[in-house]
Amino acid sequence: NRYAILMAGGIGSRFWPDSTTKSPKQFQDVLGVGQTLIQTTFKRLVKLMPAENIIILTHLGFKDTIKEQLPEVKDDQIVLEPEMRNTAPSILLGALKIKKRNKDALIIVAPSDHWIQGEMEFQQNIEESFDIVAKNDKLITLGIEPTFPNTGYGYIKYKKDGDGAQPVLKFTEKPSFSRAEKFLEEGNYVWNAGIFIWSASFIIESFKQHQPEMTRLFEKGLSVFNTSEENNFLQNNYYKAQNVSIDYAIMEKSEAVYMLPAKFKWNDLGTWKSLEDELPEDDYGNTVVNARFFPMEASGNIVKTSNAKVVVLEGLKDYLVVENEEILLITPKENIQKVKKIREDVMDKF
Ligand code: GDD
Ligand code: MG
Repeated sequence: NRYAILMAGGIGSRFWPDSTTKSPKQFQDVLGVGQTLIQTTFKRLVKLMPAENIIILTHLGFKDTIKEQLPEVKDDQIVLEPEMRNTAPSILLGALKIKKRNKDALIIVAPSDHWIQGEMEFQQNIEESFDIVAKNDKLITLGIEPTFPNTGYGYIKYKKDGDGAQPVLKFTEKPSFSRAEKFLEEGNYVWNAGIFIWSASFIIESFKQHQPEMTRLFEKGLSVFNTSEENNFLQNNYYKAQNVSIDYAIMEKSEAVYMLPAKFKWNDLGTWKSLEDELPEDDYGNTVVNARFFPMEASGNIVKTSNAKVVVLEGLKDYLVVENEEILLITPKENIQKVKKIREDVMDKF
């Protein structure tokens, strides 16, 4: 009775220009390991359940990419959203469909664009979570020890209560910088990894309580497998769902949230900076992916090309240099946090 909702509909805009609306980062081999992020995630989930129980939620524009990258996946495992409405509507849609297949279903919601090391530890964490939610009405999220006041994450204040899943006192999605700083000083906070485990029936209950309108919208019109009636229904109704993430819609509101400390190494590859955290540097502190690199006098740069181009950097320090078939981006590393904004400004002018 184990299922997965594999979230694959985001656009990863902070990883522009590699991540684009046409091909977001989950479909890219961001770290140059020979596999895309969704491929490594799918492999990880297959160790926890039969492959046919993995349901991929995505925007309809990505269907072909998914079929290409995960040829073993059947059409009925892909649920297509006609509009991008963020994660809450998508997770509700997935949970409702899964519950129609199996009313006792347990679900892991997994982002498709994260980098995880420590497969064994990951399996242990998820096994433990499945055991908990099989017996209790709890919403489990995995927590990561924070290292700096990152404002792109959810912050979880918890009550230290022995081992295992910790009761969550407060969930704060994407706080301001000063609040994030305070949280770190205070201590008993972790980052939300965005990996959730719950039973289908209890997450649907929670939606009923905290998002009654959204729940009513989807109550009628969905079927076990994909049908043309359901397609029509989604075409005509999906856009009506509030555009909101699961973090704001449920996690901040519910009192049944518990946090299990993650035992594995986790990186959500949120920005280009994360390449430096995950990949070895050369003697001069340059991080190079998929390029033949000739540093003349160059240090501290992040360099990536699309087809192993020769890159010569002379006298460049602490820059991001990213190239693909369409776009070349060169910017000081201190602008990495602004890439999402740079992308928007550029897109406006195209
Ligand atoms: N199907 C579908 N539809 N998937 C989506 C959509 C959508 O409309 N929007 C986003 N996703 C997918 C993304 O591809 C990603 O795998 C996952 O859902 C999370 O969405 P993000 O947009 O990456 O969220 P975030 O990074 O801003 O924040 C979340 O993750 C952080 C950790 O990485 C939150 O859960 C934070 O609390 C958390 O700290
Ligand atoms: Mg993310």
